[in-house]
Amino acid sequence: MGNCWFIGSPSKYRVSSTAKSESPKDQSPSVKEEQKNGSKLPSNPEEVEDLRGNTATNPLIAFTFDEVKTITGNFRQDYVLGGGGFGSVYKGFITRDLREGLQPLQVAVKVHDGDNSFQGHREWLAEVIFLGQLSHPNLVKLIGYCCEDEHRVLIYEFMSRGSVESNLFSMLLPLPWSIRMKIALGAAKGLAFLHEAEKPVIFRDFKTSNILLDQDYNTKLSDFGLAKDGPVGDKSHVSTRVMGTHGYAAPEYIMTGHLTAMSDVYSFGIVLLELLTGRKSLDKTRPVRQQALADWVAPLLSQRKRVLNIVDPRLGGEYPVKAVQKMAMLAHHCLNRNPKARPLMRDIVDSLEPLQESVEFPSIGFIYTVVYD
Ligand SMILES: Nc1ncnc2c1ncn2[C@@H]1O[C@H](COP(=O)(O)OP(=O)(O)OP(=O)(O)O)[C@@H](O)[C@H]1O
Ligand SMILES: [Mg+2]
Repeated sequence: MGNCWFIGSPSKYRVSSTAKSESPKDQSPSVKEEQKNGSKLPSNPEEVEDLRGNTATNPLIAFTFDEVKTITGNFRQDYVLGGGGFGSVYKGFITRDLREGLQPLQVAVKVHDGDNSFQGHREWLAEVIFLGQLSHPNLVKLIGYCCEDEHRVLIYEFMSRGSVESNLFSMLLPLPWSIRMKIALGAAKGLAFLHEAEKPVIFRDFKTSNILLDQDYNTKLSDFGLAKDGPVGDKSHVSTRVMGTHGYAAPEYIMTGHLTAMSDVYSFGIVLLELLTGRKSLDKTRPVRQQALADWVAPLLSQRKRVLNIVDPRLGGEYPVKAVQKMAMLAHHCLNRNPKARPLMRDIVDSLEPLQESVEFPSIGFIYTVVYD
């Protein structure tokens, strides 16, 4: 989830800049100050529930650390689903005998890696607060958490096909066009919901690794660690320290730290490009001119014929030309340098609806092994 350091793979270069620090009004106390006061962050489930207060529309289960161990088979290595800036993610099972009254359920368990990252703790809390008050078919469901001693854990519904990143860029069968369209629409609905919530929320770290898929390729956004309440009243933006992921963050946000819903729209445009081309938003292994996907393909997006040259070759020509051109044009608008000229997520949903086709699921359950004598 949203930590702001270099994690490793090129798609995960983090943006973290103090180019413009938070405005005095919005500024939360510095991490050191919070540590000194020791009072701002909850240290047990009672304090978490106090903090959630009347925003706690979704009931969350507070698990003990012993229960987390049981759920993950004591953090079995073969249960590891992946890992990010926050820590490792394990597959797990809540069984009937774990605690009376709990329904059996397969879950994903994200465990803070226990380093001295205080920020990890803040992100953990942001996730608990945001996902504890928002619910929508296109947002991942938080089942519960663990807040015991130094342990910070998040327990989510299990998304059996993992992230869009791993599906789109893996060496397995390529995702068919119809599924890419389904992913784009689902993610757009998730963002539209956040932007139009009673208290609007800016996601701030929209990217393919934070979009998860269930068995039927239903799409859900995860990772609210960097999410921010949107501007209220007549304010046009929220001032923040710049955080997000290189290759996805909007240029004006990197320059000024001014965060608006339009920053998410830009990141959405980048994800559209990744779905269209099958290429990563930032790929340091490519020639310099092609490393930043947006810079490289931007001039082609509005050219109806030339845009076909950048479609993912792994699709083998299996795509409707008109839909590709429309999607490219949509990406072009989302990536407009002028944030005010970008479309609203609600309008993007409307544009994507007619591009949907019936979805045929690829069977990715088989791995063919070639045996050489
Ligand atoms: N609810 C879930 N169900 C199934 N798999 C999940 C779930 N949540 C996370 N994962 C898996 O764990 C991986 C790591 O997720 P995590 O959010 O920790 O890191 P990331 O998104 O790759 O990086 P970042 O730290 O930049 O967000 C995901 O890519 C996904 O494969
Ligand atoms: Mg993530």
